[in-house]
Amino acid sequence: MDINNLKVLFTEEQIQTRIKELANEMNKFYGNEEVYAVCVLKGAVMFATDLVKSLSMPVKMEFIRLSSYNGGTTTSGKVNAVDISLPDLNEKNVLIIEDIVDTGLTAKFLLDFMNCNFHTKSTKFCSLLDKKVARVTDVEPDYYGFEVDDKFLIGYGLDYDGYYRNLTYIGYTDKSELE
Ligand code: IMP
Ligand code: MG
Repeated sequence: MDINNLKVLFTEEQIQTRIKELANEMNKFYGNEEVYAVCVLKGAVMFATDLVKSLSMPVKMEFIRLSSYNGGTTTSGKVNAVDISLPDLNEKNVLIIEDIVDTGLTAKFLLDFMNCNFHTKSTKFCSLLDKKVARVTDVEPDYYGFEVDDKFLIGYGLDYDGYYRNLTYIGYTDKSELE
């Protein structure tokens, strides 16, 4: 894939502006209550670290690692919990932070996991991107930044074969470019 053929979908400025809007909504919702921000690695790393900077309540950050993609641009349809060690989240406000909800299988896995393991005070799911057209589950994020079409997106945490997570913007490329 040639990085020069990447088309910009969301600029750094658009992303950062939207993140501040989401954080404001969350600040209103949680008030001064403590929140456990659970970042789903690796894709959500950029979003989670930027989002928490604009949260005003006491925040604890946790990191879990899942994988569902085969390496390239296809989802395996099966969620792997690479590392899902978490502290006791009973009676806590949990905010799960994801990069993108695509099929929704990862989101469903995580929400089921929380339900089975903890009686949280609240569990909210936040995703920067929402690819609603690709959904195969009935899961909807409580917060999302942008709704996107069924394109393969790259940048700002989203990778192609491990690369491009470090881009400050989100771009897409024609499928033919990825072969
Ligand atoms: P889901 O389980 O199908 O909802 O997919 C969730 C995971 O697949 C996300 O957390 C991403 O890491 C990855 N993913 C889905 N769509 C894309 C994309 O367009 N680009 C890069 N990664 C993606
Ligand atoms: Mg992800």
